[in-house]
Amino acid sequence: MTRTDAGPEKAPVADLVVRSTRVHTGRQEIRAQIAIKDGRILAVHDLGEQVVANRELDLGDQLVIPGLVDTHCHFRDPGFTYKEDIASATRAAASGGVTTVFDMPNTEPPITTPDRLREHLDHLDRNSVVDYGHNASAVNPSLIGELAAAGAAAFKLWMSYDVERTYPHSPATAVTDRAVLYQAFEQVAATGLPLYVHPTDHELYNLMSSRAKASWGVAPASYARSFRLGDSVAFNAAVATLLEFQRSVGTRLHVLHLSSVEGIRMVREAKVAGRSVTGEANPFAMFVTNDWERIEKRGPFVLGQWVPPADNLAMWEAIVDGTVDVIGSDHAPHTEEEKLPGWQDMFAAPSGSPMIADYLRLMLTAVYDGRLTLDRAIELCCVNPARLVGLAGRKGTIEVGADADLVVVDVDHIAPIDGSTSLYKCGWSPADGLVTRGKVQRTFLRGVEIYREGQVLVDDGFGQPVIG
Ligand code: DOR
Ligand code: ZN
Repeated sequence: MTRTDAGPEKAPVADLVVRSTRVHTGRQEIRAQIAIKDGRILAVHDLGEQVVANRELDLGDQLVIPGLVDTHCHFRDPGFTYKEDIASATRAAASGGVTTVFDMPNTEPPITTPDRLREHLDHLDRNSVVDYGHNASAVNPSLIGELAAAGAAAFKLWMSYDVERTYPHSPATAVTDRAVLYQAFEQVAATGLPLYVHPTDHELYNLMSSRAKASWGVAPASYARSFRLGDSVAFNAAVATLLEFQRSVGTRLHVLHLSSVEGIRMVREAKVAGRSVTGEANPFAMFVTNDWERIEKRGPFVLGQWVPPADNLAMWEAIVDGTVDVIGSDHAPHTEEEKLPGWQDMFAAPSGSPMIADYLRLMLTAVYDGRLTLDRAIELCCVNPARLVGLAGRKGTIEVGADADLVVVDVDHIAPIDGSTSLYKCGWSPADGLVTRGKVQRTFLRGVEIYREGQVLVDDGFGQPVIG
C-alpha cells in the first residue's frame, strides 16, 4: 500500500459493482462481484466479501459473460448504406452482446490505402456504438506497412472475385495472382499482424460454377452445390496454397470460412506442427446452410455456401478440438429486394447474410444442446478473437485490468429468431425460425450499460478505437 502524508491510501471506491452467482470470466464460471472503476475491472471479489462501490447491481443467478469480440463483419459503410451502416450494424451488435467489432474492407471505396483507412477509422469513431477496429485490404503489397502504421488491426484478402455480379466480391479486394499474394504474405509478416484470407481458388471455382450451371441451371440449389463440386476442391486447393505460403514466409495466417473435411484436416495438421495458423468458422455454416431442406425452402436468404453433413460434422469436431480458434459472425447483410432475384438466378444475386445480433443465441443453444461447453463457446467468441488482434487481457475477458465489457444473458429465454424485430436495417435473418435458448438482456461496454431489452442506451459514436 502506498502512503501519503495524510496516512495510508484507501483502496479506491468502485463506480459500480456487479454481482452474480454465475459469472463466466472467459476461463471459468464463478460466483463473483465485479468491481468497476473508470470503465475497467478494478477487482473480482468473492460474493461474500465487503465491496465498497457507488452503485450496485445485483443480478442474482443471471449468467454474466464477457462482451463478444467479432473480428469478421461487413458493415456496408461507406458505399452500400441502404443495406446497413456502421451505426445500425453496431446497434445490432450491442443487442447481440458484441462489444468490439472489426469490419471488413469490401466497401465502396474499398479500404485499400492509408488515407482511406484513416478516413474510415474517423467514420467508425463518429458512428460506432461499440469499440472498433478495421481489417484493411492487403491488395497492394507496397502499402501494407503504411496501412499498419495508420492503424490496421489485421489484413484481409479474397482470393477470388465474382464474375456475374459486382458485389460482394469485387476485383478491387481480391488477389488472384499468386505472386502478388505471396508478396502480400511477406509484407504482412513484416507488420506482425494477422492476415485473414477467404480461401477460394478463382479459376477452379469458375470451372465448378460453369459445371454446376450446365448440370442444374442457375437456381439456388445449383449455386449451393457449385462450391462442393470435386469434394470442395476450389476451397481446399486455396487452403493448401495459403498454408504453403505461410510455411514459406511465416506470416500469421488466419483461415476464414473453415467448412470442408479436407480444409480442416490441413489446418489441423499445420497447427499441430506448431505453425502460426488460426482457423475461423462462421455461424451460417454451422447452423444454417448445413440443412439442405432449409436451402430449398429459403434459397437466396440462406446462401452462401452449402455445408453437407460430412463437412458440418468435421466443422463441429474442429470447433470442439481447437482447430477452429475463432467464431466470426461474417455479418453481411443485403436487402430483401437484392436477395429475391436469387430464386431465378442465384449466381447473379449477392451471397452473404446478417448475423451479428443472432450468433450468441445460436452458440448458447448449441451449449444447451450439448454440442460444446460454455467454456469453449466463450473462448471462441470472446477470448480467442481478442487474442488474435492483440487484445488479450483487455477485451473478451472478465479479469482485473480488462475493460468492463459484460453481457447479461437471460438463459431461460426460448423463442424463434425473428429478423423482422431485429436492429438490422434489412429486417431479416438467415436464422429466422430457428428456436434458440438464451438471449442477451443487457450489454455493458467499459462499465456503461449500452443496451437493455431491445433498446440501445447510448448515442452513435460511443465506441472507441482499440488499436493504437
Ligand atoms: O458470401 C459472402 N458475402 N462472402 C464474403 O466474403 C463477403 C460477404 C458479403 O460481403 O456479402
Ligand atoms: Zn466475410
